[in-house]
Amino acid sequence: MSYENLLVEREENLAIVTINRPKVLNALNGDVIRELGLVADELEGDDSVRVVIITGSGEKAFVAGADIAFMSKLSPMEAMRFARLGQAVMRKIENLSKPVIAAINGFALGGGNELAMSCDIRVASERAKFGQPEVQLGIIAGFGGTQRLTRLVNPGLAKEILYTADQYDAETAHKMGLVNHVVPAEELLNFCKGMAKRIAARGPVAVSLTKEAINAGLEMDLDKAIGVEADLFGLSFTTEDRKEGIAAFLEKRKPAFQNK
Ligand code: HXC
Repeated sequence: MSYENLLVEREENLAIVTINRPKVLNALNGDVIRELGLVADELEGDDSVRVVIITGSGEKAFVAGADIAFMSKLSPMEAMRFARLGQAVMRKIENLSKPVIAAINGFALGGGNELAMSCDIRVASERAKFGQPEVQLGIIAGFGGTQRLTRLVNPGLAKEILYTADQYDAETAHKMGLVNHVVPAEELLNFCKGMAKRIAARGPVAVSLTKEAINAGLEMDLDKAIGVEADLFGLSFTTEDRKEGIAAFLEKRKPAFQNK
């Protein structure tokens, strides 16, 4: 499929999705959000893709937030629908059956930081800047920021970020636990591809079940969550990948997983 606002490249088992509106720092309007939903569906249904990387076009921005010009024309009901649409798309990305890495190449503000937080793993370039500037516009975060930020960093820190609208450099975001790694700008994509390829070489069903256990468990108490883990552990024993993975270890060779 081709998209107006996204570039989608394949490299071995990886898909790299680039949000491509550099003139407005890759700001998210309704069309971009809808296309992100479509690409998520496309990649979900493509068994040849094992890991997805999301990044932004140009050197300046990952995503500088929801498109402010677009939002300036929304009625309250349209604004609510826009928030719900973005939330549904980000939830879809969060619950994709394969890992998603955000390669944060510049500004990740407002909806951009919210998109990054819906990914499994965040890697920042040294040039990246983070923040939730919505209250500066007299509005609030609407793509899950008030909830995911609170879960990702501690609630006090999340409140400070959301109340002050301050911007944070990549090192500070790393110290807060918002990003896993900070790397030089020119190494960002290769670093993410390296990690994605290591993940793609592992048992794909097992990686997917691991993601499912973690995501489901985050919404349960520990007793229920470890119950889900045990169920999915048992399920992993039904797979061809488990046979192959264990046989390869015992035969001292590399496994050739088939994703089944
Ligand atoms: C629309 C945007 C934009 C945005 C930048 N641009 N961010 N357009 N929506 N979010 C446009 C600018 O208008 C400008 O267009 C061009 O991109 C380059 O940006 P500049 O401001 O000239 O660049 P710079 O001076 O380097 O400043 C970069 C910046 C600043 C600090 C990122 O652009 C900025 O503060 N942007 C807004 C960030 C923001 O508030 N994000 C949160 C939005 S609310 P022209 O035509 O002048 O060249 C949100 C809510 C999510 O995300 C939930 C929704 C439900």
